[in-house]
Amino acid sequence: MMRTSDPRISDPAEPIADFFDAFAALYDDWARGLHSRVASRLVTLSAPTPGEDCLDVGCGTGLVANAVASLVGPRGTVVGLDVAPGMLRRARDRSRSEGLRNTVFEHERVSHRLRFQDGLFDLVTLGTSLAFLGDPLAVLTEARRVLRDGGRIALSLRRRSLVTPAQEAFFGWLEELTAQHWRAIPRPQGSRSPLGEPQTLRRLLLEAGFGEPVTTMLATGSQMPSASAWIDHMTWSGPWPWALLTTLGPTERGRLEAALGREMERMGDEAFHYTDAFTFAVAPTA
Ligand SMILES: C[S@@+](CC[C@H](N)C(=O)[O-])C[C@H]1O[C@@H](n2cnc3c(N)ncnc32)[C@H](O)[C@@H]1O
Repeated sequence: MMRTSDPRISDPAEPIADFFDAFAALYDDWARGLHSRVASRLVTLSAPTPGEDCLDVGCGTGLVANAVASLVGPRGTVVGLDVAPGMLRRARDRSRSEGLRNTVFEHERVSHRLRFQDGLFDLVTLGTSLAFLGDPLAVLTEARRVLRDGGRIALSLRRRSLVTPAQEAFFGWLEELTAQHWRAIPRPQGSRSPLGEPQTLRRLLLEAGFGEPVTTMLATGSQMPSASAWIDHMTWSGPWPWALLTTLGPTERGRLEAALGREMERMGDEAFHYTDAFTFAVAPTA
Protein backbone atom coordinates (compact mmCIF):
# COMPACT_ATOMS: atom_id res chain seq x y z
CA MET A 1 0.00 0.00 0.00
CA MET A 2 1.20 3.54 -0.67
CA ARG A 3 1.30 6.27 1.97
CA THR A 4 -2.13 7.85 2.21
CA SER A 5 -1.38 10.30 5.04
CA ASP A 6 0.11 12.75 2.51
CA PRO A 7 -2.78 14.98 1.40
CA ARG A 8 -1.18 15.48 -2.01
CA ILE A 9 -1.72 11.82 -2.83
CA SER A 10 -5.48 11.46 -3.13
CA ASP A 11 -5.52 7.85 -4.31
CA PRO A 12 -2.65 5.48 -3.59
CA ALA A 13 -3.00 3.76 -6.97
CA GLU A 14 -2.70 7.05 -8.90
CA PRO A 15 1.12 7.26 -8.98
CA ILE A 16 1.27 3.65 -10.16
CA ALA A 17 -1.28 4.27 -12.91
CA ASP A 18 0.58 7.45 -13.95
CA PHE A 19 3.85 5.55 -14.19
CA PHE A 20 2.40 2.77 -16.33
CA ASP A 21 0.51 5.22 -18.54
CA ALA A 22 3.79 7.05 -19.19
CA PHE A 23 5.51 3.69 -19.80
CA ALA A 24 2.79 2.20 -22.05
CA ALA A 25 4.30 3.09 -25.45
CA LEU A 26 7.75 1.75 -24.47
CA TYR A 27 6.66 -1.17 -22.32
CA ASP A 28 6.68 -4.13 -24.73
CA ASP A 29 10.07 -3.33 -26.32
CA TRP A 30 11.87 -1.92 -23.27
CA ALA A 31 15.26 -3.50 -22.46
CA ARG A 32 15.32 -5.50 -25.69
CA GLY A 33 11.81 -6.85 -25.16
CA LEU A 34 12.33 -8.01 -21.56
CA HIS A 35 8.65 -7.72 -20.63
CA SER A 36 7.59 -9.63 -23.74
CA ARG A 37 10.03 -12.45 -22.89
CA VAL A 38 8.87 -12.66 -19.27
CA ALA A 39 5.21 -12.67 -20.34
CA SER A 40 5.80 -15.35 -22.92
CA ARG A 41 7.53 -17.58 -20.33
CA LEU A 42 4.60 -17.10 -17.96
CA VAL A 43 2.11 -18.10 -20.65
CA THR A 44 4.10 -21.25 -21.47
CA LEU A 45 4.28 -22.22 -17.79
CA SER A 46 0.57 -21.58 -17.22
CA ALA A 47 -0.25 -23.97 -20.13
CA PRO A 48 -3.70 -22.69 -21.18
CA THR A 49 -5.85 -25.21 -23.06
CA PRO A 50 -8.82 -24.72 -25.42
CA GLY A 51 -12.07 -23.78 -23.72
CA GLU A 52 -10.56 -22.46 -20.47
CA ASP A 53 -11.78 -19.29 -18.72
CA CYS A 54 -8.98 -17.01 -17.48
CA LEU A 55 -8.53 -13.89 -15.38
CA ASP A 56 -5.41 -11.73 -15.82
CA VAL A 57 -4.92 -9.28 -12.93
CA GLY A 58 -2.79 -6.25 -13.82
CA CYS A 59 -2.94 -7.18 -17.50
CA GLY A 60 -0.98 -4.14 -18.73
CA THR A 61 -0.60 -4.06 -22.51
CA GLY A 62 -2.10 -7.55 -22.73
CA LEU A 63 1.12 -9.46 -23.40
CA VAL A 64 -0.11 -12.36 -21.24
CA ALA A 65 -3.87 -11.97 -21.70
CA ASN A 66 -3.85 -11.93 -25.51
CA ALA A 67 -1.43 -14.86 -25.78
CA VAL A 68 -3.62 -16.84 -23.37
CA ALA A 69 -6.72 -15.83 -25.37
CA SER A 70 -5.34 -17.27 -28.57
CA LEU A 71 -4.49 -20.56 -26.77
CA VAL A 72 -7.89 -20.99 -25.08
CA GLY A 73 -9.53 -20.34 -28.45
CA PRO A 74 -13.08 -19.22 -29.25
CA ARG A 75 -14.69 -21.48 -26.63
CA GLY A 76 -12.50 -19.95 -23.89
CA THR A 77 -12.52 -16.44 -22.41
CA VAL A 78 -10.02 -14.00 -20.92
CA VAL A 79 -10.82 -11.08 -18.62
CA GLY A 80 -8.00 -8.56 -18.14
CA LEU A 81 -8.07 -5.94 -15.35
CA ASP A 82 -5.77 -2.95 -15.03
CA VAL A 83 -5.63 0.41 -13.28
CA ALA A 84 -3.73 2.23 -16.09
CA PRO A 85 -5.96 3.33 -19.02
CA GLY A 86 -2.96 3.73 -21.38
CA MET A 87 -1.88 0.13 -20.82
CA LEU A 88 -5.45 -1.12 -21.29
CA ARG A 89 -5.79 0.75 -24.59
CA ARG A 90 -2.82 -1.18 -25.93
CA ALA A 91 -4.22 -4.46 -24.65
CA ARG A 92 -7.50 -3.82 -26.50
CA ASP A 93 -5.72 -2.68 -29.69
CA ARG A 94 -3.57 -5.82 -29.70
CA SER A 95 -6.65 -7.99 -29.22
CA ARG A 96 -8.42 -6.29 -32.13
CA SER A 97 -5.42 -6.47 -34.42
CA GLU A 98 -5.01 -10.18 -33.67
CA GLY A 99 -8.71 -10.76 -34.38
CA LEU A 100 -9.40 -12.12 -30.89
CA ARG A 101 -13.06 -12.07 -29.89
CA ASN A 102 -12.80 -13.79 -26.52
CA THR A 103 -11.17 -10.99 -24.48
CA VAL A 104 -12.61 -8.31 -22.22
CA PHE A 105 -10.34 -5.61 -20.78
CA GLU A 106 -11.67 -3.57 -17.89
CA HIS A 107 -10.39 -0.57 -16.03
CA GLU A 108 -10.20 -1.61 -12.41
CA ARG A 109 -8.08 -0.95 -9.40
CA VAL A 110 -7.54 -4.26 -7.63
CA SER A 111 -6.72 -3.84 -3.96
CA HIS A 112 -7.79 -6.88 -1.95
CA ARG A 113 -11.12 -8.10 -3.37
CA LEU A 114 -12.08 -9.55 -6.74
CA ARG A 115 -15.64 -8.81 -7.80
CA PHE A 116 -16.26 -12.22 -9.40
CA GLN A 117 -18.34 -15.05 -8.02
CA ASP A 118 -16.72 -18.23 -6.67
CA GLY A 119 -15.28 -20.82 -9.04
CA LEU A 120 -15.61 -18.85 -12.29
CA PHE A 121 -12.12 -19.36 -13.78
CA ASP A 122 -9.72 -22.17 -14.68
CA LEU A 123 -6.64 -19.97 -14.63
CA VAL A 124 -5.66 -16.74 -12.86
CA THR A 125 -2.49 -15.00 -14.03
CA LEU A 126 -0.59 -12.14 -12.39
CA GLY A 127 2.29 -11.08 -14.64
CA THR A 128 4.64 -8.98 -12.47
CA SER A 129 1.63 -7.22 -10.96
CA LEU A 130 1.25 -8.72 -7.46
CA ALA A 131 3.82 -6.41 -5.86
CA PHE A 132 1.76 -3.34 -6.87
CA LEU A 133 -1.53 -4.46 -5.33
CA GLY A 134 -2.82 -3.14 -2.01
CA ASP A 135 -2.83 -6.45 -0.15
CA PRO A 136 -1.01 -9.22 -2.05
CA LEU A 137 -2.04 -12.06 0.30
CA ALA A 138 -5.70 -11.01 0.18
CA VAL A 139 -5.60 -10.93 -3.64
CA LEU A 140 -4.05 -14.42 -3.75
CA THR A 141 -6.79 -15.68 -1.40
CA GLU A 142 -9.38 -14.10 -3.69
CA ALA A 143 -7.71 -15.70 -6.71
CA ARG A 144 -8.17 -19.09 -5.01
CA ARG A 145 -11.85 -18.27 -4.38
CA VAL A 146 -12.63 -17.36 -8.01
CA LEU A 147 -10.85 -20.46 -9.36
CA ARG A 148 -12.67 -23.73 -9.99
CA ASP A 149 -11.35 -26.82 -8.22
CA GLY A 150 -8.69 -28.21 -10.50
CA GLY A 151 -7.69 -24.71 -11.63
CA ARG A 152 -4.33 -22.97 -11.16
CA ILE A 153 -2.64 -19.66 -10.57
CA ALA A 154 0.45 -18.53 -12.49
CA LEU A 155 2.59 -15.57 -11.42
CA SER A 156 5.80 -13.79 -12.25
CA LEU A 157 7.55 -11.39 -9.88
CA ARG A 158 10.82 -9.49 -9.92
CA ARG A 159 13.45 -11.22 -7.81
CA ARG A 160 15.16 -8.28 -6.12
CA SER A 161 17.77 -10.27 -4.17
CA LEU A 162 19.75 -10.85 -7.36
CA VAL A 163 20.56 -7.19 -8.01
CA THR A 164 24.22 -6.30 -8.59
CA PRO A 165 26.40 -4.15 -6.30
CA ALA A 166 25.98 -1.32 -8.84
CA GLN A 167 22.19 -1.50 -8.53
CA GLU A 168 22.40 -1.73 -4.76
CA ALA A 169 24.57 1.39 -4.60
CA PHE A 170 22.29 3.26 -7.00
CA PHE A 171 19.09 2.44 -5.15
CA GLY A 172 20.76 3.35 -1.85
CA TRP A 173 21.45 6.69 -3.41
CA LEU A 174 17.89 7.10 -4.57
CA GLU A 175 16.82 6.55 -0.95
CA GLU A 176 18.99 9.50 0.07
CA LEU A 177 17.74 11.68 -2.79
CA THR A 178 14.15 10.79 -1.90
CA ALA A 179 14.67 11.79 1.73
CA GLN A 180 16.01 15.22 0.68
CA HIS A 181 13.58 15.81 -2.17
CA TRP A 182 11.10 18.71 -2.20
CA ARG A 183 8.38 16.42 -3.41
CA ALA A 184 6.83 13.56 -1.39
CA ILE A 185 7.73 10.64 -3.64
CA PRO A 186 5.01 7.97 -3.43
CA ARG A 187 6.39 4.72 -2.03
CA PRO A 188 4.84 1.41 -1.01
CA GLN A 189 4.42 0.99 2.72
CA GLY A 190 6.67 -1.83 3.80
CA SER A 191 9.03 -3.50 1.39
CA ARG A 192 7.54 -5.59 -1.41
CA SER A 193 10.99 -6.88 -2.40
CA PRO A 194 10.72 -10.27 -0.60
CA LEU A 195 7.59 -11.22 -2.61
CA GLY A 196 9.71 -12.41 -5.54
CA GLU A 197 11.79 -14.75 -3.40
CA PRO A 198 10.69 -18.33 -4.13
CA GLN A 199 10.32 -19.24 -0.42
CA THR A 200 8.24 -16.15 0.38
CA LEU A 201 6.02 -16.67 -2.63
CA ARG A 202 5.56 -20.36 -1.78
CA ARG A 203 4.57 -19.48 1.80
CA LEU A 204 2.02 -16.91 0.59
CA LEU A 205 0.51 -19.27 -1.97
CA LEU A 206 0.10 -22.05 0.61
CA GLU A 207 -1.38 -19.55 3.06
CA ALA A 208 -3.85 -18.41 0.38
CA GLY A 209 -5.08 -22.00 -0.01
CA PHE A 210 -3.10 -23.20 -3.02
CA GLY A 211 -1.24 -26.48 -3.36
CA GLU A 212 2.53 -26.86 -3.67
CA PRO A 213 3.80 -24.43 -6.36
CA VAL A 214 6.34 -25.21 -9.06
CA THR A 215 8.81 -22.34 -9.27
CA THR A 216 11.41 -21.40 -11.82
CA MET A 217 13.32 -18.25 -12.74
CA LEU A 218 14.66 -16.10 -15.55
CA ALA A 219 17.69 -13.85 -15.09
CA THR A 220 19.17 -11.50 -17.61
CA GLY A 221 21.36 -8.43 -17.44
CA SER A 222 23.82 -6.17 -19.17
CA GLN A 223 26.26 -3.36 -18.68
CA MET A 224 25.42 0.26 -19.42
CA PRO A 225 27.94 2.36 -21.36
CA SER A 226 27.51 5.55 -19.31
CA ALA A 227 25.91 7.20 -16.29
CA SER A 228 23.37 8.84 -18.55
CA ALA A 229 22.31 5.52 -20.15
CA TRP A 230 22.15 3.96 -16.67
CA ILE A 231 19.82 6.66 -15.34
CA ASP A 232 17.63 6.47 -18.48
CA HIS A 233 17.29 2.71 -17.97
CA MET A 234 16.65 2.88 -14.20
CA THR A 235 14.01 5.58 -14.68
CA TRP A 236 11.72 2.84 -15.99
CA SER A 237 12.51 0.30 -13.29
CA GLY A 238 9.42 1.28 -11.25
CA PRO A 239 7.03 4.05 -10.14
CA TRP A 240 9.36 5.32 -7.42
CA PRO A 241 12.54 5.82 -9.53
CA TRP A 242 10.38 7.26 -12.32
CA ALA A 243 8.61 9.74 -10.00
CA LEU A 244 11.94 10.86 -8.59
CA LEU A 245 14.20 10.89 -11.64
CA THR A 246 11.73 12.66 -13.93
CA THR A 247 11.63 15.64 -11.55
CA LEU A 248 15.37 16.32 -11.90
CA GLY A 249 16.30 19.48 -13.77
CA PRO A 250 19.39 19.55 -16.00
CA THR A 251 21.70 20.79 -13.21
CA GLU A 252 20.60 18.16 -10.69
CA ARG A 253 20.70 15.48 -13.34
CA GLY A 254 24.25 16.53 -14.33
CA ARG A 255 25.32 16.36 -10.67
CA LEU A 256 23.82 12.91 -10.33
CA GLU A 257 25.53 11.67 -13.50
CA ALA A 258 28.91 13.00 -12.33
CA ALA A 259 28.57 11.46 -8.85
CA LEU A 260 27.36 8.18 -10.34
CA GLY A 261 30.30 8.09 -12.75
CA ARG A 262 32.77 8.56 -9.86
CA GLU A 263 31.08 5.90 -7.71
CA MET A 264 30.99 3.38 -10.58
CA GLU A 265 34.64 3.97 -11.38
CA ARG A 266 35.47 2.68 -7.91
CA MET A 267 33.59 -0.56 -8.70
CA GLY A 268 35.94 -1.63 -11.48
CA ASP A 269 34.43 -4.45 -13.57
CA GLU A 270 31.15 -4.25 -11.64
CA ALA A 271 30.55 -0.69 -12.88
CA PHE A 272 27.18 -0.16 -14.58
CA HIS A 273 26.33 -3.87 -14.41
CA TYR A 274 22.71 -4.75 -13.70
CA THR A 275 20.53 -7.84 -13.59
CA ASP A 276 16.81 -8.23 -14.19
CA ALA A 277 15.67 -11.42 -12.49
CA PHE A 278 12.20 -12.92 -12.22
CA THR A 279 10.61 -15.76 -10.25
CA PHE A 280 7.73 -17.70 -11.80
CA ALA A 281 5.32 -19.85 -9.83
CA VAL A 282 2.42 -22.05 -10.89
CA ALA A 283 0.25 -23.52 -8.14
CA PRO A 284 -2.85 -25.73 -8.30
CA THR A 285 -5.96 -25.18 -6.23
CA ALA A 286 -5.30 -27.37 -3.17
C1 LIG B 1 4.68 -4.65 -14.65
S1 LIG B 1 3.13 -4.41 -15.35
C2 LIG B 1 2.71 -6.04 -15.93
C3 LIG B 1 1.76 -6.06 -17.09
C4 LIG B 1 1.47 -7.44 -17.64
N1 LIG B 1 0.83 -8.28 -16.65
C5 LIG B 1 2.70 -8.11 -18.16
O1 LIG B 1 3.03 -9.21 -17.68
O2 LIG B 1 3.33 -7.55 -19.07
C6 LIG B 1 2.08 -4.25 -13.94
C7 LIG B 1 0.67 -3.85 -14.30
O3 LIG B 1 -0.14 -3.90 -13.11
C8 LIG B 1 -1.04 -2.81 -13.15
N2 LIG B 1 -1.48 -2.50 -11.79
C9 LIG B 1 -0.74 -2.00 -10.78
N3 LIG B 1 -1.50 -1.84 -9.69
C10 LIG B 1 -2.75 -2.25 -10.01
C11 LIG B 1 -3.96 -2.33 -9.29
N4 LIG B 1 -4.07 -1.97 -8.01
N5 LIG B 1 -5.06 -2.81 -9.94
C12 LIG B 1 -4.99 -3.18 -11.24
N6 LIG B 1 -3.85 -3.12 -11.97
C13 LIG B 1 -2.74 -2.67 -11.36
C14 LIG B 1 -0.23 -1.68 -13.77
O4 LIG B 1 -1.03 -0.65 -14.29
C15 LIG B 1 0.57 -2.44 -14.84
O5 LIG B 1 -0.10 -2.43 -16.08
